[in-house]
Amino acid sequence: MKKIVLASGNAGKLKEFREILKGYEIVTPKDIGVDFDVEETGETFYENALIKARALYELCHLPTVADDSGLCVDVLGGAPGVYSARYEGGMIRLLKELTGVKNRAAHFTSCIVYYDGENIIEATGYVYGKIADAPHGNNGFGYDPVFMSDELGKTFGAATSEEKNAISHRRRALDALFAKLNANKA
Ligand code: IMP
Repeated sequence: MKKIVLASGNAGKLKEFREILKGYEIVTPKDIGVDFDVEETGETFYENALIKARALYELCHLPTVADDSGLCVDVLGGAPGVYSARYEGGMIRLLKELTGVKNRAAHFTSCIVYYDGENIIEATGYVYGKIADAPHGNNGFGYDPVFMSDELGKTFGAATSEEKNAISHRRRALDALFAKLNANKA
């Protein structure tokens, strides 16, 4: 089975990648004895994912996959976007900034890049919704309690992981990447 190294040690991500990229052996840097840490200096999700995929490839010389994701709020011009993980105050700051704001449209984006030293294969997924007036539910992580999914009619924080993972931005990017990998026979 073809081995692909995932540029993350996150257990949840690893599980999702393994479930969707069937026919590939997905391993972590740790599994192959590589110490991986890189600064995300890009200005787009694609740039950051590519930076991570390339940096990991240079360390292991095996095919790699890396993802970058975040929450984009329309009325904030797409912020916090690529800076989601570094947006100080997170959910609470976001709710404050949107106090009294009518247009609460937002989406999560996930960009995944595959790199094997030669081919770059990119796939992006989106999920649309609105920023709730207050957090609902304790499931998930990050902005999940304030992201009201248009499709689920509830926040990701109030959804089960099965409900969220069936429609999530990462799921959609992974499905698209899987199709592209198969088409490229990479
Ligand atoms: P990454 O791990 O560098 O891609 O950073 C992603 C950041 O975006 C996280 O720290 C969260 O703040 C946010 N984020 C991305 N995906 C999700 C999600 O599915 N739910 C909630 N927050 C998310």
